Amino acid sequence: MPGKIGCQVRREAAVDSTNQAARRWVRAGAPDGAVVVAAQQTAGRGRLARRWVSPPGAGLYLSAIVRPRMPVERFALLTFAAALAAWDACFAVTGAHPGIKWPNDLVLSGRKISGILLECEGDAAIIGIGINVRQRQEDFPPELRNKAGSLLMLTGKDVALDELERALLEALERRVQALVAGAWREDYCERCITLGAAVRVKCGEESFTGTAEALDRDGALLVRDGEGKQRRVLAGDVSVRGLTGYVDGDWN
Ligand code: BTN
Repeated sequence: MPGKIGCQVRREAAVDSTNQAARRWVRAGAPDGAVVVAAQQTAGRGRLARRWVSPPGAGLYLSAIVRPRMPVERFALLTFAAALAAWDACFAVTGAHPGIKWPNDLVLSGRKISGILLECEGDAAIIGIGINVRQRQEDFPPELRNKAGSLLMLTGKDVALDELERALLEALERRVQALVAGAWREDYCERCITLGAAVRVKCGEESFTGTAEALDRDGALLVRDGEGKQRRVLAGDVSVRGLTGYVDGDWN
């Protein structure tokens, strides 16, 4: 029987990155479902080797260690379960309806409020989730000030971190179980603002524009390019931005 997410929680005042702390814990024998939460990260990491600015008490910074009963090749799909769980948690505590920018950013009123970094260590997946909770605009670094937002800024609700954490762990448990049972795509597509949007896809030095038409069963984005050819875009090293709205922001 796999361990329930949150069955063991390590709370740290400050760590380099909760994903790194989780990785060290996996190497030292962490049980399935173990979670690391930090009040502050000194070297918080984002996708595509970016940093995740993590000042003390301003956001929820958490990594869950999971060993779901599914083939390791399917672990990449956990990113969609995690995005749905972050969505559920934000909705539960604020009533807001963010959009999901493929593959896993939450966007509210055109600003990014949450990001997910999924990594693997041995037989475990590490799901790192960051949610901006009470930052004000000036708390973000200048280059993010027009693109990032927090639940407080955008909903006016001063959400308690422990309440959001409880909602997130409960949602993560439910969404990972649903994923193992094969159910994620419909809920994900309903919330995904990238679908139907004009996008620019960038992979290394290569980039192209097109329309994001659909998501396949592996979570790949199907993009119709300017020549009418459908191209299959997998998450990972690829960055997708829209040509209008937030999805129009910088590569992220
Ligand atoms: C992204 O949008 O690029 C992903 C951001 C992921 C941030 C979270 S905060 C908790 C966990 N620890 C990290 O170092 N990163 C993830």
